[in-house]
Amino acid sequence: MLDVGSGTGAVLRHLAKRRPECVFDGIEVAPAPWLLSTLLARAQANVRFRRADFFVQSWRGHDVVYAFLSPVPMARVWEKAQRELPAGATVISNAFPVPGAAPERTVEVDDARGTILYVYRVAGAGSTTK
Ligand SMILES: C[S@@+](CC[C@H](N)C(=O)[O-])C[C@H]1O[C@@H](n2cnc3c(N)ncnc32)[C@H](O)[C@@H]1O
Repeated sequence: MLDVGSGTGAVLRHLAKRRPECVFDGIEVAPAPWLLSTLLARAQANVRFRRADFFVQSWRGHDVVYAFLSPVPMARVWEKAQRELPAGATVISNAFPVPGAAPERTVEVDDARGTILYVYRVAGAGSTTK
């Protein structure tokens, strides 16, 4: 799983403990949260964080991409996911739907923020389907 814009890594550090058989990657551009994420995850072998712009890094090799960003980059996120992820891969957007794309499903999280997760299925590499 890849978290694009992983912040302090809270989501991935939590999931990595629950799913030790999986590998979790985060990409974060801001130095302070990235540094914190690497320090807090130093004892977890199945989670790693890169400091970079996720739009210039490859997403290949991941089955699930998770994003909690803003409305602005979502169309570009979806385009990159369709180019680089395999058929059947999952894209999960916290709070911000992809404009013009129908989610496979939505998940209402029972949290204080009333979070909605938008879950999309990638048709395949090179697909332009939305
Ligand atoms: C709302 S936080 C989400 C943190 C974490 N994924 C979560 O769900 O708790 C969004 C993060 O995305 C990062 N970000 C935004 N655009 C980015 C980009 N192009 N490349 C890497 N990180 C980016 C921001 O610096 C910020 O830390």
